[in-house]
Order: sequence, then C-alpha cells, then structure tokens
Amino acid sequence: METILEVQGLVKHFPLPGSRAKVQAVNNISFCISKGETLALVGESGSGKTTVGRCVLGLLEATAGSIRFRGGEMGKRRHVRTPELRGRMQLVFQEPAEALDPRIRIGETIEEPLRAVNLPPAERGERVAEVVDRVGLTVEILDQYPLTLSAGQQQRVGIARAIITKPELIVLDEPTSALDPTARAEIIDLLLRLQQELGSAYLFISHDLSAVRYISHRIAVMYLGMIIEQGDAAEVFRTPRHPYSIGLLSSVLLPDPSLKGLTSISLRGEIPSPINLPKGCYLASRCPFADDRCRREMPPAEDLGGNHVVRCFKHQEVAQTERAADTFEEFQRTAERILSA
Ligand SMILES: Nc1ncnc2c1ncn2[C@@H]1O[C@H](COP(=O)(O)OP(=O)(O)OP(=O)(O)O)[C@@H](O)[C@H]1O
Ligand SMILES: [Mg+2]
Repeated sequence: METILEVQGLVKHFPLPGSRAKVQAVNNISFCISKGETLALVGESGSGKTTVGRCVLGLLEATAGSIRFRGGEMGKRRHVRTPELRGRMQLVFQEPAEALDPRIRIGETIEEPLRAVNLPPAERGERVAEVVDRVGLTVEILDQYPLTLSAGQQQRVGIARAIITKPELIVLDEPTSALDPTARAEIIDLLLRLQQELGSAYLFISHDLSAVRYISHRIAVMYLGMIIEQGDAAEVFRTPRHPYSIGLLSSVLLPDPSLKGLTSISLRGEIPSPINLPKGCYLASRCPFADDRCRREMPPAEDLGGNHVVRCFKHQEVAQTERAADTFEEFQRTAERILSA
C-alpha cells in the first residue's frame, strides 16, 4: 500500500516561560498512514494527540523527528507549507464553531481553501456546490451565517471546507465530541462514505472508542506523548497487549455489569506530570505488572507480528495471565454487544 504520511521519532516539547522546565507533550512517536486508510490516535486527555496532529499539519514546529508527506520531508519549521501542500492536507476541528467565523457567510468559508490553492474564481462556485451536496447540505445555506446552523450542520460545513481541495490526508481532531448522539452517528457515516468516494487518508483523533472502532483501520494508543501500542484496529480491540490499552478499553466498557472481572487490570494512582516524566516505562508507577526493570528502562517498540507493536516488557505475561485471557474473551463479547447497540 502506498504510504501517504510517515512520521519518525517525532518529539514536541513546549518550553515553560520563565523556567528551564518544559512540557514533554510528544516523546518519540513513529507511525505511517497509507492512502485511503484511517489511523486513530486514542488516549486520555493530555496524552499529546492534538499536538501530534498540529505538528503533522505544520501548524506547530516539531522539536525533533521527521515528517514525510508523500515521501517529501516537511521540515521542522512551521509555515513550510506551500499553497500546494496546504490543499493536500486539511484539518477538521473539534468545535465546528472554532473553524467558522461568525461574521463570514458559509459560502465564503467553504470556498476559502480554494483561494489558498489558487483555483481560478470561475471554477470555485461549481466546486462549492459539489461539496455542499456531498456533505448533505443544500446551497441555500451558502448565504447564511454559522450561528443560524445546528452543531451537526456546522460540522458538515467544516467537513465540506476540508474536502474542497480533494486532500490526500485529513486530520480530524475529535470531530464528533461537540455533537449529540444522532448528529454524531450521522457525521461518522458521512466520514466513512466520503473516504470511500474520495480516497482520503484520515488521522482520526478521538476519545470516542466506539466511533474509533467503527471507522478505523488501525489504532495507535498514546500515553504521555508515546505510542504504547499500535496495530490493526480489530486486533487491538480484541487482544490489547499493553496494560494501559487494557485499562483504557476497560474503563470505557466497565459500566457493563458482566465485566466486573476487568477491574483487576484497572490502573491505580495518578498520571505522572509531562513536565517531570519518570525514568523507565511511563506507566510503571500505575501498572500491576511492573517490576524493577520497568521502572529503570524504557521498553522498546516490539512487533508481535502483523504490525501489532507494543512497548511493554511484560506483554507475554499480560497475554498469558489466565485471568486476562478469560476477561479478554468476555471483554470482546461485551464490547461487541455494546458497540453494535
Ligand atoms: N501551547 C502549549 N504550551 C504548553 N503546553 C502545551 C501546549 N499545548 C499543549 N500543551 C500540553 O501538552 C500536553 C499534550 O496536550 P494535547 O492538547 O496535545 O493533548 P490531547 O491528547 O489532545 O488532549 P485532549 O484529549 O484533552 O484534547 C498537555 O500536557 C498539554 O497541557
Ligand atoms: Mg486534543
């Protein structure tokens, strides 16, 4: 499969003003996205998902690492994005309202990226009408202002604006979290359909694991700025191998009473500060499997086969734990039931 985006060893630290300390938001992350593929980035609040997305788009300057788009190095500096590159990568925001200026008519908002890629004005109107139709809106809204639209309609405008340049990659940062359940399901369906029609690759950033499972081909689980597990989405959901992934998946699904057994792999304690990261595995202080080595050394990214990659010295023990094996099966059944409901 043709690789669209290749991120190698990405690091992003934010200096804290008036101090030598820094927020270590992203710490050595590597991943690829192929043409037409969806990679989900999941993880708790503050794990660095948005920062990764913004570095990929060139909106933030990376501290270290390489970001290659279609084989070409993007460079670490922001603003390296040429107009041509701008059209080939787009962003859909979490809050539709964030992307929409209340004083600007919808038609102009949708058309704006075409100006940046220098499409002749004569061709713009037709392109706007086409994307408005594609996202399930009607041309009447073009003369309206954002505040007259529902949140779901606003997000459709945000998506129309993102696809108008026919981008090869779209970064979707929590695109459904501001929406009610009906609008959320509609937007997810729309994104799936658009991907089939347009072949764009998605970097899908989300807390919403049921949406992730529905929409993603691959999944990368982040913890404190690292990808601690990555693989085929169905496989990671079925047999997570990192204790943090198990904790994350089970915390979402635990309210279901038949999953009581899973509390045994829930994580204890507080998440360390990204300003002062521990030595060794960042999860060690919270992990029931951790030993001295985990507290001393950072586990390498290990491929378990089929590109299922885990950063955990204990993944075999995790897999072999009788209890875990039982609960995984139970977990899978329940997860399927909940997620298909
Ligand atoms: N401009 C900034 N200056 C300083 N620290 C920042 C900045 N932007 C993000 N951070 C910090 O970097 C870390 C990662 O933040 P980020 O927004 O990428 O997380 P996230 O996974 O997207 O979280 P959420 O799920 O809440 O959106 C956090 O500790 C955050 O406070
Ligand atoms: Mg975020």
